[in-house]
Amino acid sequence: MLKSLTIVTDKKSIERVMAKNIVLIGFMGAGKSVAANELAKRLQRDVFSTDALIEKREGRTIAEIFEHSGEAYFRKVENTVVRDIVPRKGIIIDCGGGVFLNPENSKSLKKTSIVFYLSATPKILYERTKAHSHRPLLKAHDPLKKIKELLKIREPFYQQADHIIHTSGKTNTQVCDEIMEFLKDE
Ligand code: S3P
Repeated sequence: MLKSLTIVTDKKSIERVMAKNIVLIGFMGAGKSVAANELAKRLQRDVFSTDALIEKREGRTIAEIFEHSGEAYFRKVENTVVRDIVPRKGIIIDCGGGVFLNPENSKSLKKTSIVFYLSATPKILYERTKAHSHRPLLKAHDPLKKIKELLKIREPFYQQADHIIHTSGKTNTQVCDEIMEFLKDE
């Protein structure tokens, strides 16, 4: 009797975890996209990137959106994309670095998903992003200073995640292994 009750509970909790989305948040260069794609393979789930959805919806790149329509417009589209995707079940969502700063986004994502914050030191984020030119917010005279400034403002938002994964000095495989461990315990 007790055994069958346990099995039913386990099945229910597995179904509950499977229905939940897995959301990756964090600063630009945190490794969200590579981790999201690796997790999608390991868990056989579909992966969606808010940035890719925005570019598809707008038919232009994020750099073009920032340049011609401004950041406020970009954030509006970002919010629309999050609203569209949140009702889905069992997917992996790779969030652009600013998604969790909007309380509506963070509230709805937290409700439907297990949220992982991939954190890294400013120096590491700088090293990982310095070779790329597609991020408008990092096109600064002193990108490391900009990273430090933005991270200071954003850290309290990112800390609202369910789990924090420190990625500095770790490979993508190690990061995903840690996420998988947390998922086992959910
Ligand atoms: C942004 C992060 C970017 C992209 C846009 C703004 C941010 O995504 O959404 O350039 O505000 O941190 P990644 O975090 O995937 O680079």
